[in-house]
Amino acid sequence: MSNEILSLIYTFSRKFNDPKTNLAFDPKNKNILATFNNGNVNVTIQISNGDEHLYHDISRLLKKNIEQIPGVLSVNIIITAEKNQNSVEKKFKIDVKNIIAVASGKGGVGKSTFAVNLSVALKSLNLRVGLLDADIYGPSIPRMIGVSKKPEMNKDKKLVPIENYGLKSMSIGYILENESPTIWRGPMVMKALEQMFNGVAWGTLDYLIIDLPPGTGDAQLSLAQNSKLTGSIIISTPQEVALTDARKGINMFKKVGVRILGIVENMSYFICDKCSEKHFIFSKDGAKKEAHKFNIPFLGEIPIDSKLRHQSDSGIPCYIDNPEGDISQKFISIAKQLDKSLSS
Ligand SMILES: Nc1ncnc2c1ncn2[C@@H]1O[C@H](COP(=O)(O)OP(=O)(O)OP(=O)(O)O)[C@@H](O)[C@H]1O
Ligand SMILES: [Mg+2]
Ligand SMILES: [Zn+2]
Repeated sequence: MSNEILSLIYTFSRKFNDPKTNLAFDPKNKNILATFNNGNVNVTIQISNGDEHLYHDISRLLKKNIEQIPGVLSVNIIITAEKNQNSVEKKFKIDVKNIIAVASGKGGVGKSTFAVNLSVALKSLNLRVGLLDADIYGPSIPRMIGVSKKPEMNKDKKLVPIENYGLKSMSIGYILENESPTIWRGPMVMKALEQMFNGVAWGTLDYLIIDLPPGTGDAQLSLAQNSKLTGSIIISTPQEVALTDARKGINMFKKVGVRILGIVENMSYFICDKCSEKHFIFSKDGAKKEAHKFNIPFLGEIPIDSKLRHQSDSGIPCYIDNPEGDISQKFISIAKQLDKSLSS
């Protein structure tokens, strides 16, 4: 009987779309959860902070309609703002103030480049920074940070993170001989990531920056569930194919209760060597508009720059190579903005 009633509740609710995400309130939508106990219905709707006003009408209509279902004695509609991640005990432990995951829907849009340069920028603000390469499928941190040595084991049997440019980093790329295996089953992913937290002597940090693989797979979910993520930063290039994938990423993080700290647009434009004008190769302002649409902070834009590519390839982050350069200063400004918003 309770299953029948639950399916009747969803028959009703699925006629409505979430005013924010535009997804139908059906059982697949993780932002809505209906329970039925001894005649009492609880419907929990997960929303973003500050959006309460958008849900008044829907709550009222749902309540009115669900009350009509035979066997229902009471209906309680609960609107909750983002889950408080910090109240839950997490399995992946580390002594750090903020953990920031750098994510994208599409591959190759510049997550690793951003993660490294954000880390260096935060470091230059006198913060203690760790960089965790969670891209176990194709780790790029060793190359971008210019290190290819094996981490040592301390007397507590923990791996000592590699230090370079004042950053502590850990990557599966430091440990595995050649290329890392490309096939990882779900539980292995979780185990590997757990090792990078609990099995590493990180010490005390202000920031742990996590470089994620692309997409919305096991690594993302495992980190969202098991670590105290402060939030994620979404990297996208401005063109529609990248934005479509970015949206999927945004929705996934929302569903698992991870705050989106902002969107960064990479490869926004190219400053031409010939005419010195900005050329918008992947279209203009795509990610900026997307941020606006989702009501997510827009953290900044990074141009296409052959020096930046060269610096990444040769293991010298751009701020280290040229602290006064325009792009270095863009990373500094993003780091300051972020640190300010997280310290207040
Ligand atoms: N703004 C930029 N200008 C020029 N080259 C860039 C820029 N951003 C990234 N690149 C280059 O593009 C390539 C892909 O960047 P990166 O590895 O950071 O992307 P990614 O999103 O981490 O990729 P993956 O999904 O494979 O992990 C690299 O060669 C990098 O140097
Ligand atoms: Mg990468
Ligand atoms: Zn030109």
